[in-house]
Amino acid sequence: CGSMWQLLPPTALLLVAVSAGWQSDPPKAVVSLDPPWYRVLERDSVTLKCQGTSILEDNSVQWWHNGSLISSQSSSYLIGMARAKDSGVYRCKTHLTKPSDLVRLEVHVGWVLLQAVQQVFQEGEKIQLQCHSWKDKPLHKVSYFRNGRAKQFSHPNRNFYISNATRNDSGSYFCRGLIGKRNESSTSLNIIVQGPAGPSISPSWHQVFFYLLTGLLFAVDTGLYFFMQRNLRSLMEDWRNHKVKRNQDSQGK
Ligand SMILES: *[C@@H]1O[C@H](CO)[C@@H](O)[C@H](O)[C@H]1NC(C)=O
Ligand SMILES: *[C@@H]1O[C@H](CO)[C@@H](O)[C@H](O)[C@H]1NC(C)=O
Ligand SMILES: *[C@@H]1O[C@H](CO)[C@@H](O)[C@H](O)[C@H]1NC(C)=O
Ligand SMILES: *[C@@H]1O[C@H](CO)[C@@H](O)[C@H](O)[C@H]1NC(C)=O
Repeated sequence: CGSMWQLLPPTALLLVAVSAGWQSDPPKAVVSLDPPWYRVLERDSVTLKCQGTSILEDNSVQWWHNGSLISSQSSSYLIGMARAKDSGVYRCKTHLTKPSDLVRLEVHVGWVLLQAVQQVFQEGEKIQLQCHSWKDKPLHKVSYFRNGRAKQFSHPNRNFYISNATRNDSGSYFCRGLIGKRNESSTSLNIIVQGPAGPSISPSWHQVFFYLLTGLLFAVDTGLYFFMQRNLRSLMEDWRNHKVKRNQDSQGK
């Protein structure tokens, strides 16, 4: 019966190693923008920061823009004077992390831009919008609109703020203000507020236990299979030898 226990350990070890490796998956890097707006105007300055697991300056960071590796290897990537070609999606990775999710940056042309931190929000999150002027020229008498209706009017330019978003705050927003005597409007931006997120899909301990159990059963099963096969084979061999021997015996008579 030794063969089964000789077979089991490697299989079981492999399974434990696989599940342990899965549990200690390296974390994902995170790209953040500073200032936080994902929509900027030409000539704005924005810094992309790659947050890994280390607090120390990491000079082995990889950055991708639109899927192509770019030369910056520092943990922050400065776009000093944004141009249209800086638009697109960014992703980073440190030596201790998996690649981050994609982060979008849009560089727009115009006098006034409605800025947001993101386009899609969850219910209960805060929404902050900023009416931003080209080269930060002074902007007066700013109004914010949703679906064509004025929502807020402020004398000096102040941000538009919703502290607890509901689905009803979804809609098409724009802002308008005076730069000197010029009455300038932004293009509109569709803000989407989604209902509560579905159940989490991260593995629970129940699932881990289930996988381990499945793995163990599989290992026992495999072990049994080989054990049976080997025994059967030796049984057959014994039987054949026995038969040959008997034949020889009978011939010898
Ligand atoms: C990246 O993609 C965006 C959007 O498709 C495009 O506007 C931009 O010019 C691209 N930039 C580069 C350098 O590929
Ligand atoms: C946000 O609004 C919802 C629905 O109106 C309410 O149930 C919830 O308590 C509010 N949350 C906060 C933090 O104010
Ligand atoms: C959203 O709008 C609908 C209809 O306009 C209204 O019945 C509902 O109470 C609103 N919900 C919230 C959270 O304001
Ligand atoms: C800007 O123009 C709109 C019409 O296009 C007008 O209704 C609004 O009052 C003007 N804003 C200011 C601050 O003058």
